[in-house]
Amino acid sequence: MNKKTGVKILGTGSYFPKKVLTNEDLEKIVNTTNEWITTRTGIKERHIAEKDEATSDLAYQASLEALKAANITAEQIDLILVATVTPDMSFPSTACVLQTKLGLTSAPAFDLSAACSGFIYGISIAKAFIESGVYKNILLVGAEALTKFTDWTDRNTCVLFGDGAGAMILSASEENDDVLSVFLGADGSYADLLSMPGGGSACPATAESVNEKKHFIRMKGKEVFKVAVLKMALAAGKALEMANKKIEDIKLFIPHQANMRIIEAVAEKMDVLMERVFVNIHKTGNISAATTITALDEAIKIGKLKAGDLVELVAFGGGFTWGAAVIRI
Ligand code: UT7
Repeated sequence: MNKKTGVKILGTGSYFPKKVLTNEDLEKIVNTTNEWITTRTGIKERHIAEKDEATSDLAYQASLEALKAANITAEQIDLILVATVTPDMSFPSTACVLQTKLGLTSAPAFDLSAACSGFIYGISIAKAFIESGVYKNILLVGAEALTKFTDWTDRNTCVLFGDGAGAMILSASEENDDVLSVFLGADGSYADLLSMPGGGSACPATAESVNEKKHFIRMKGKEVFKVAVLKMALAAGKALEMANKKIEDIKLFIPHQANMRIIEAVAEKMDVLMERVFVNIHKTGNISAATTITALDEAIKIGKLKAGDLVELVAFGGGFTWGAAVIRI
């Protein structure tokens, strides 16, 4: 019998727009304080895409870095996946726009919509395509320009989000099996707690929908918070179980960066010390599908991880969706 094809994580990359918006800047545009934002969320600043900078532009820069780290060319990619809730437009997909920017003309490309859990959903799809022998080299991107869909008059949401992109190259391997497990979940009955109701077929854009601010992110933060802690802890536990690993085997736990208090609550439930939890929320805010991959990329770049280390990624977001993956770097 042939040896099972596994997944090798060849490289990662990330990109943040140059412009930075600090809490002090926000104090000037909405009724908030640096003190409130810092103590309630852990966020200090976030990156903001320029007017002419779309999600695909951020995805492109992150992809170039990941290709370089993986030491392969764009031409060797045979599937492009982009996890995003802030696509350049409804269609064509941001993955197709990215494909053109990468100078490719035939690799299949599609977006996936699973909000903040999008990158972990993407790992699962990439793993299945590679293990089944369908594709060899997959470019998986998590990219968001959330600040373009932010209501800058709503202090409950506008202080939370930022923009950025991260990318990973996953490749078929006979020797490696770097994706040990992926656990996914969703519950659509919570849809109203975190959504952007306008712009789709249920509520197409009209002057009225714009006036009613239906094209901005809406969130009932308190309710989301509680479910986020429960589901992230559940997903993290399940992915460990599936990988036949214990939390002690994990070098770095990388949770979705939505709120420092959520991160601490999940860490406590998982019984993992904060020194083994990666946090960069202070610099990024919540960048939805881009959070776990940009955090992973930073952890690699600053030397917190070395080849062979086990990492657990866990995320939760609109839908609701949740997921966790145990991977080897
Ligand atoms: O990525 C997907 C997952 N997303 C999340 O997981 C986010 C989950 N939720 C959260 O992170 C938190 O619930 C928030 C950060 C959104 C809010 O924190 P909270 O501790 O739940 O605050 P709250 O909504 O209960 O508001 C407490 C108070 C309110 O004032 P009153 O009614 O007590 O007088 C708010 O009006 O804080 C007020 N407030 C603010 N004050 C200053 C809310 N936002 C602000 C603000 N600045 N930006």
